[in-house]
Amino acid sequence: MGHGGVRERPNRHAWRACRGQPLVGSNPTPSATTASAPAGRSSPPSTILRPAVWTRVRLQPMTPNLWAAVDGYICDHLVASEPALDAALAASAAAGLPAISVTPNQGKLLALLVQLCSARAILEIGTLGGYSTIWMARAMGPGGRVVTVEADARCVDVARANLVSAGLSDVVEVRLGAALETLPEIAGDGSGPFDFVFIDADKANNSEYFDGFAIGVVRS
Ligand SMILES: C[S@@+](CC[C@H](N)C(=O)[O-])C[C@H]1O[C@@H](n2cnc3c(N)ncnc32)[C@H](O)[C@@H]1O
Repeated sequence: MGHGGVRERPNRHAWRACRGQPLVGSNPTPSATTASAPAGRSSPPSTILRPAVWTRVRLQPMTPNLWAAVDGYICDHLVASEPALDAALAASAAAGLPAISVTPNQGKLLALLVQLCSARAILEIGTLGGYSTIWMARAMGPGGRVVTVEADARCVDVARANLVSAGLSDVVEVRLGAALETLPEIAGDGSGPFDFVFIDADKANNSEYFDGFAIGVVRS
């Protein structure tokens, strides 16, 4: 998932460490945060209108920590804990996989997108431990299927076990192999067309995955 505007890529799971931390500047002055609008000034710069009060907002440069704190805030308020998903993350961590899966709010967005386009055939490039796979597979309607491609055999083993635990092994196929080699096989073996493609592997090949493959296998 992209993190537009962030120069350094934050650890996607840093949101956990940032949960509950304030999102505003570390030391805003009281006058700066609760200043009343000056008489006759209808829209002062960098302010949000609250009932009878102008609150001045301190704009901060985006940093990995701030990004993670915003993620954490959204996760805390909008994404309920789900045992199958939490278990997949825990099993992935226990197996030593890196904490680079989508965050819960990103998973929920994926599920929403899957539902919005009534996807029944999903392709994922970059499985890791199957966390995003589970979000998408659970959002599909009956009869749906997911094909997910992963180059690392250790990840494939963990993902398959996680999918069994989540009760999704019959609707998700995990294919081992480098995507540039595996995708042409998928294009040729009748697995497609797909309603939804999630590209989340090695970013250097994104344009190849998108232009060279995804466009050709998405249902028109
Ligand atoms: C960011 S992780 C995927 C996270 C997963 N989509 C999730 O949110 O739970 C990227 C994964 O892509 C895999 N990967 C990297 N290069 C690949 C390639 N050329 N072909 C297939 N998988 C690749 C990595 O092994 C890693 O597991």
